[in-house]
Amino acid sequence: MSNNRYQKQNRHDTNSDMINLVDNLNRAEDLKFNRRAFLKSAVGASITLGLATLPFTGLALTNKKEAKHRVEIAKLADIPKDSAFNFTYPTDDEPAILIRTKKEELKAYNNKCTHLQCPVFYEKEESVLLCPCHKGYFNVETGHPMAGPPQRELPLIQLEVEDGIIYAVGRQTRHE
Ligand code: FES
Repeated sequence: MSNNRYQKQNRHDTNSDMINLVDNLNRAEDLKFNRRAFLKSAVGASITLGLATLPFTGLALTNKKEAKHRVEIAKLADIPKDSAFNFTYPTDDEPAILIRTKKEELKAYNNKCTHLQCPVFYEKEESVLLCPCHKGYFNVETGHPMAGPPQRELPLIQLEVEDGIIYAVGRQTRHE
């Protein structure tokens, strides 16, 4: 009899435990917790990634704006119509090309091909900038690629003419 009572009591306890367990499984709370934990992880990961890429973002922004210093290139009188002149800008390590077009306009670009960095040349006959490495063509008026492998524009160098002297005054990288 006492054994029976113990079994009964035991069953009661087990049932109570199950009820407690089921009661403790509050699905809404559980989901809320999981959502909160997920959001915390996502925010943490975003901040970490953001901080990790900060130097590259800064570099990209710097490259976009570039240095804006003024450098003398040549006397306007020394650059005949429909000809080109090589110089460096904004540093001595960065080759550039100045073109006085058939229309007497002045254009300047960094002259590293945007495909694989070969130098580009002014091709008078066709009035284009030509990269001989893989026959890449750029529009002399805009620096935009016209044919061949290059997909991006040549960096544009801004010019000013003062008292017959041509100056480079800035560089604009126009692609990401
Ligand atoms: S490097 Fe200029 S086309 Fe390839």
